[in-house]
Amino acid sequence: MSDAFSAVKITDRVYWVGAIDWGLRNFHGYLTSRGSTYNAYLIMGEKIALIDTVKPQFYTEMIERIGSVVDPTKIDYVISNHAEMDHSGALPRFVHACKPKKLFASSKGKEALAQHFHWDQPVEVVKTGDRVDLGDTALSFVEARMLHWPDSMFSFLEDGGVLFPNDAFGMHLATSERFADEIDPSVLYYEGAKYFANILLHLSPIVLRFLDKLPSLNLDIKMIAPDHGPVWRQNVNQIVEYYAKWAKQEPTEKALVIYDSMWQSTARMARAVGDGLTNGGARVKLMPLDGTHRSDVLTELLDAGALLVGSPTMNNQVYPTVADVMNYLKGLKPKNLVGASFGSYGWSGEATKHLDQLLGEMKVELAQEGLRVPYVPGREDLAACRTLGAKVAGMIAR
Ligand code: FEO
Repeated sequence: MSDAFSAVKITDRVYWVGAIDWGLRNFHGYLTSRGSTYNAYLIMGEKIALIDTVKPQFYTEMIERIGSVVDPTKIDYVISNHAEMDHSGALPRFVHACKPKKLFASSKGKEALAQHFHWDQPVEVVKTGDRVDLGDTALSFVEARMLHWPDSMFSFLEDGGVLFPNDAFGMHLATSERFADEIDPSVLYYEGAKYFANILLHLSPIVLRFLDKLPSLNLDIKMIAPDHGPVWRQNVNQIVEYYAKWAKQEPTEKALVIYDSMWQSTARMARAVGDGLTNGGARVKLMPLDGTHRSDVLTELLDAGALLVGSPTMNNQVYPTVADVMNYLKGLKPKNLVGASFGSYGWSGEATKHLDQLLGEMKVELAQEGLRVPYVPGREDLAACRTLGAKVAGMIAR
């Protein structure tokens, strides 16, 4: 048995030559509880092509996997679908060591690679509809600007109908299985949704426009091979349909209550708000932020119709854990939400005002002005929390 990493055959001529990052838990602020993969693909045509690379620290793993199929110096072309470091990090070393004849990228990709690596490497620019002949098959390209960077590009292999959409349709999931149909569907759904919610949610209108345009590109897609997570080879439309669903952000009867607490007063209010929501007919999820990661909040919010935010006032401000999550949420632009703020305070009580302003900027339809209670909520205060929950539930049900 070889002591080196091996490629995994994806089709008669496509091999997975990426890396599995089992230990990854923080992907620029996203909790990757199940690790990730950086998928690079080797295409064995009369001309040999490599699509994307891996993080720099996985260079040797990628080279060994390529080497299990072909001498890496025999690679003719490299396609850079996306310049983010998890896919381009190993590229300069590869280009230096293996000297491929050509490197292809979108026009923005060429710029981004130059701005990352400050090199004088020639890059051939390709645009939507361009084709690179591999002798006995060919690759064509689709620019996918802002899915999710300006440089993002999809490549399509005519033989076998394999779409390489870079980050799109991917997920952070380290597994020994390379195909989606080998993995528990509930894990696939959760990690796919989490990826969409944390990477693409704010780009939903662009996603929808791109999906509308996809049929007119006349690509006979039989397989989708993204740059993270498994390859889709059965029922490939399913992940495309999920993307359409997630991007529409149609509200449901689910209400998400996120909060943190200093002395359990805001926590008691959150439970009473949740009780009111339940009594009003909503499906409720409470997420205390002292033990919940911001990226899991986004995942839960993806199919919610309401967002209720609870924060004590601390130093005249929103409590730090709540502020962190709200800052993150605002950037990802969730849509079609109703909601409210609440929280306890001691003497100044600005947190709910700050939260109302922020929720307003996020275009959340507020049920009422933030509900605030001095120090510790009494029976009447908790009754007001229940009334608030019921009111929001009524707004979801409209
Ligand atoms: Fe997986 Fe945008 O990098």
